[in-house]
Amino acid sequence: MPENPAIDNLLNETRRFPPSKDFAANANVTEEAYAEADADFEAFWAKQARRLTWETEPTQNLDWSNPPFAKWFADGKLNAAYNCVDRHVEAGKGDKVAYYFEGEPGDTRTITYADLKDEISRGANALIELGVKAGDTVAIYMPMIPETIFAMLSCARIGAIHTVVFGGFSADALSTRIQDCNAKVVVTADGGYRRGAPSALKPAVDKALESCPDVHTVLVVERTKQDTHMQDGRDKWWHDYVGKQSSEHTPEAFDAEHPLYVMYTSGTTGKPKGILHTTGGYLVGCAYTHWALFDLKADTDIFWTAADVGWVTGHSYIVYGPLANGTTSVMYEGTPETPHRGRWWEIVQKYKVTILYCAPTVIRTFMKWGEEVPARFDLTSLRLIGSVGEPINPEAWIWYRRVIGADRTPVVDTWWQTETGSSMIAPLPGVTAAKPGSAMRAIPGIFTDVVDDTGKSVPNGSGGYLVVTKPWPSMLRTVYGDDQRYVDTYWSRFKDVYFAGDGAKKDGDGDVWVLGRVDDVMNVSGHRMSTTEIESALVSHVKVAEAAVVGATDADTGQAIVAFVILRGELPEEEQGPELITELRNHVSTQIGPIAKPRQIMVVQELPKTRSGKIMRRLLRDIAEKREIGDVTTLADSTVMDLIQENLAKST
Ligand code: WTA
Repeated sequence: MPENPAIDNLLNETRRFPPSKDFAANANVTEEAYAEADADFEAFWAKQARRLTWETEPTQNLDWSNPPFAKWFADGKLNAAYNCVDRHVEAGKGDKVAYYFEGEPGDTRTITYADLKDEISRGANALIELGVKAGDTVAIYMPMIPETIFAMLSCARIGAIHTVVFGGFSADALSTRIQDCNAKVVVTADGGYRRGAPSALKPAVDKALESCPDVHTVLVVERTKQDTHMQDGRDKWWHDYVGKQSSEHTPEAFDAEHPLYVMYTSGTTGKPKGILHTTGGYLVGCAYTHWALFDLKADTDIFWTAADVGWVTGHSYIVYGPLANGTTSVMYEGTPETPHRGRWWEIVQKYKVTILYCAPTVIRTFMKWGEEVPARFDLTSLRLIGSVGEPINPEAWIWYRRVIGADRTPVVDTWWQTETGSSMIAPLPGVTAAKPGSAMRAIPGIFTDVVDDTGKSVPNGSGGYLVVTKPWPSMLRTVYGDDQRYVDTYWSRFKDVYFAGDGAKKDGDGDVWVLGRVDDVMNVSGHRMSTTEIESALVSHVKVAEAAVVGATDADTGQAIVAFVILRGELPEEEQGPELITELRNHVSTQIGPIAKPRQIMVVQELPKTRSGKIMRRLLRDIAEKREIGDVTTLADSTVMDLIQENLAKST
């Protein structure tokens, strides 16, 4: 367990925020839910599965006969897109708004459930015409526009597996993912709007496809009307090709365990993992948690997850959860400061958003911009605010509740992961007296613990590793194409429990405080980044011999990427200046994406290593965070740290 002095201060946090009487009296979930789920968790989830419309109702609940490969509701059949869209139209809610889309330049679109049904039926017919079959994969590389959702649901409708690659990833990152999941069709756009200007996407696809010969079709959505190269025979405009399709399509039901999507996420090795989610259990997890943790009142709430659809938060809480529950959502394309720092609050005011869900990193940015910005807007529609993606520090939590939530709304801090599919640890908004900075306890139906090195549950007041002790419906089923990696990564560290890769402490009441990753994964602005992946990107540069990357604590982004590089011997000193650092940062950006750019790169002569050759990142983190260097006795050469420090003192 890495030491974390900050957490001991956190555990002295004594403020409590129970829901108001009114909120509690009208809440969807009451305290009894815990006992009900504890008594029989399978029956509890079987009951939640009834939130969906099944073509064949499942009679089986959990099948754990071949652990850690779980099956849930395996004899049930359903269609995810039908559950998200058609059934609401059939229930007479076709005119209900599914999305209020707000483009960054200020353009808007209102998409009803009936519109959505037409769009995804056309999309499904287009994919069928292209030869896409159930079980095939389709890559989606898009800005934050409604067509991203149309493309996902068009896939789900015909049983094709979508893999959405975040639009901020580079061509290289995109091609690795396309190759790994063997996608033959790519959906993209000419570009999207970021920070007040069109930002092209299609050129990255063209570059990525140079190494993906199996891709036969690229569907291109027109968003920015930028000059766009279209390759004859391969590239088709979405509005032409999808637009001409019939809006009639009958969805077919698939097995509950039919794959729904793959989402790539950083692991502890350089190669990203394709997290595989299947249909029935995933949708049950999303629908239940979206209803329970956000206290969703589908008829009146206006729900806004301010995240990108390209991450799991977008999949579960912009698309699948809200749609399965027939919710009206807001979707915003751009950045919070475009064209002004009050843009989010203007959106809340305009659409009378009642539930807002976002990441601590952006809350900290708003804090920095000052409370006078949100004060200019009417935020009284808000009745619940949520947080996800990284630990939220108590001060940010308090600010969020006081300034955005008018000291009135519950703050729901939700701990979960790409792998867990939906939220796992969170307060129940109508029940829990929340503590600022703690995600509190596992929600009904989910069972977690904090264990020591040997896998033994730690007593209250102690820290250790966060684990999940029972299977749950929306859990990942495997790493796409690599069952062994699934077993090794999640189920081998401790016996019979899921290892999340996070450190956590239990406080005196047994409430959980998630500390962050204990593996070589960093969390930068709520985005998971692998140290090894960035190290590989750095050493792929001709001038770099060796690299070590650490996540240093950062007041704005949670963690920041700091790299230490050893240059190739022959490089003259005058070529080691600031231009080289810029060149290296840009190199990482083209290899992975702008989000992976190190905040700082330091050139060093040596790296601290153990006798077995393992880089001691802990010591590098001390340097990056400008702390006194910790214990160096396990270093192969204990003078290395002095050398590094002398070296850095000289260069700064
Ligand atoms: C971190 C995002 C503390 C954690 C949904 C986890 C959190 C990783 C919280 C997953 C939270 C997420 N409190 N830490 N409320 N939520 N994390 O896969 O380290 O992008 O393992 O999923 O984010 O990131 P991922």
